[in-house]
Amino acid sequence: MAASPDADDADMAELPLETRCPPTPLRQYGGFWWPEPILPGVVAARARFEPRPSDVFLASFPKSGTTWLKALAFAALHRADHPPRAPDHPLRRRNPHDCVEFLEGLFALSPSPVKGGDVFAPHPSPRVIATHIPYSLLPGSVTTEGTGCKIVYVCRDPKDALVSKWQFTKKRLAFAAAAPDNPPKPCTVDEMFELFCDGRCTYGPQWHHVLGYWEASRRQPEKVLFLRYEEMLRDPVGNVRKLAEFMGCVFSGKEEAAGVAEDVVELCSMDTLKNMEVNKNGTQNSVKNEAFFRKGVAGDWSNHMTPEMAARLDKIVEDALQGSGFAF
Ligand code: A3P
Repeated sequence: MAASPDADDADMAELPLETRCPPTPLRQYGGFWWPEPILPGVVAARARFEPRPSDVFLASFPKSGTTWLKALAFAALHRADHPPRAPDHPLRRRNPHDCVEFLEGLFALSPSPVKGGDVFAPHPSPRVIATHIPYSLLPGSVTTEGTGCKIVYVCRDPKDALVSKWQFTKKRLAFAAAAPDNPPKPCTVDEMFELFCDGRCTYGPQWHHVLGYWEASRRQPEKVLFLRYEEMLRDPVGNVRKLAEFMGCVFSGKEEAAGVAEDVVELCSMDTLKNMEVNKNGTQNSVKNEAFFRKGVAGDWSNHMTPEMAARLDKIVEDALQGSGFAF
């Protein structure tokens, strides 16, 4: 695989390699660093995914509020079939990651019988599909104007995304430690910081990831909605209204009077999700579900990074974004 976004033939060994951030090696492709096991899924999705006009994509840089956005979008879009107060609501039985699948993850994991085809084809419409793929490398069929499908992006302060990733990785490696094959030791926060500043983290550089979606949202506001995690924390109901309207399922006057938007926010809140049995004791392939729900606040970076580290990262990001019109 040549280091070009148009490459479709996997020859991963030729791509630049970064092994200092366990659990997975990273490969650089199309200007971003990818978990090695996921990259074939990206290439397959680019080649084979067939979008539908009713599709909604939830895009994010990792540890930026993906789990929350998945829950909110799923609950808002499917509220006619699954009212948020219903005791048997899917989100009361399943982790948000089991309700909304990752585009590149499912393509990467799919067994050979579906190889050569679109693994999302059996999923009924309207589909909500998540991705960490940067905008410039999404399947062209998704980004082309006029295809109808929509993209919601959630952005977060890079310092909080970094600290969240560090905490998550420690839990992921602790989970792997139960397996027999001696997992690698996690990075210290200082080590991860250095790599992050260099853009060497999963789907990094973070600021290029954010900028791609922000620019797309400016070019095509009807196709790409750009949300900020910090604003969602400040005004969750306002943001869920915006999300529903964008997805084409605005809350009706009757629903507003009944407090349905508030019910969706309550169902998807950190407190509610964190305390569900499935999220306390369930697992994904490589981590316990509880690892997806930590503090859920803005500014936790200050408990793990020095002011000097913060200033250095802020400067790197500011320099990289200069002239773009975007700022965190
Ligand atoms: P912290 O580690 O800073 O607490 P992602 O879902 O992209 O992996 O992002 C994980 C971050 O989102 C974690 O941040 C996690 O605690 C937070 N999060 C998860 N569910 C949330 C929710 N329902 N509301 C707010 N934040 C949430």
